[in-house]
Amino acid sequence: MAIERTLVLVKPNGVERGLVGEVTARFERRGFVLKGLKLLRAAPELAEEHYEEHREKAFFGELVAFLTSGPIVAMVVEGVSAVQVARSMMGATDPVSAAPGTIRGDYALEIGENVVHGSDSVASAEREIALYFSASELLP
Ligand code: RTP
Ligand code: MG
Repeated sequence: MAIERTLVLVKPNGVERGLVGEVTARFERRGFVLKGLKLLRAAPELAEEHYEEHREKAFFGELVAFLTSGPIVAMVVEGVSAVQVARSMMGATDPVSAAPGTIRGDYALEIGENVVHGSDSVASAEREIALYFSASELLP
């Protein structure tokens, strides 16, 4: 029962489509606690650093262009196994394969515009949270 924190992003198409409340509510209802929350426009440098593991991939340019195309919402959620549970609530990367009932399975069809991001490990979560939030912006 490890209590973890993870970074959740509502990507630009999620904000544009008015899904911020829906996504946030799902994490709150599951029992997670919000420790940080902000609306921002990501600079290209931030998006590139966030997704640095994909720098050599063919889709990297599109990925950065998409994440910086409009406002996003970043939140830090805390709770039991937050990293794994948040990813399972989001569903498969490709929404075509995402189970109904997951966020991507309910609200997305295209892999490049899959509405949400979730950190993929505790180490990634720590790194990513620090990219989006200063210590003073997070609740203890
Ligand atoms: P995320 O980081 O956004 O939560 O997504 P993820 O872990 O499920 O997937 P990841 O492998 O980290 O990929 C990051 C984002 O890149 C886009 N992508 N496009 N065209 C493609 O084959 C492809 N593969 C990945 C997706 O938008 C994915 O969310
Ligand atoms: Mg990922």
